[in-house]
Amino acid sequence: MANKHVITLIVNGKDYTLSVEARRTLADALRDDCGLTGTHLGCEHGVCGACTVLVDDKPVRSCLMFAVQAEGCSVRTVEGLAKGDALHLLQKAFWENHGLQCGFCTPGFLMLAAGALEADPDLSEEEIRDILSSNLCRCTGYQNIIKSVCLAANEMRACPPSADR
Ligand code: FES
Ligand code: FES
Repeated sequence: MANKHVITLIVNGKDYTLSVEARRTLADALRDDCGLTGTHLGCEHGVCGACTVLVDDKPVRSCLMFAVQAEGCSVRTVEGLAKGDALHLLQKAFWENHGLQCGFCTPGFLMLAAGALEADPDLSEEEIRDILSSNLCRCTGYQNIIKSVCLAANEMRACPPSADR
């Protein structure tokens, strides 16, 4: 137990008690200790955004945050977006509008967009483009990602998601 800290992460509403070194990243804790591999690791130094999750509802690059810093926070990952068989409106929009190809970047884009639209459901296309520009995609050329998020934003405005996240 030397040099390890026992922490409890609340991920997608479930408690995970972990014993981690202070240097363990939130991304590694989610993937390797919680078994939630939907959060992807690309660059591992804050550039690509593939590892984006929501911490207390704000998008965070989980490769840049230590797991111990997330103690007591609400962490949401891509695994928590769908409710059973019902896809989140963002997931549905990505699926229907070819917002992904290989899908490696997709969890990061979904969580980034989810956090942004929950914070401000009235984001303009210009603002959505600006927010999405923080994440990288090697496949799509971005147009269908932007289209998917804009269409999902319209649907979320018409039919806001329930508060039980
Ligand atoms: S893996 Fe975290 S920003 Fe690229
Ligand atoms: S869909 Fe392949 S990296 Fe974005």
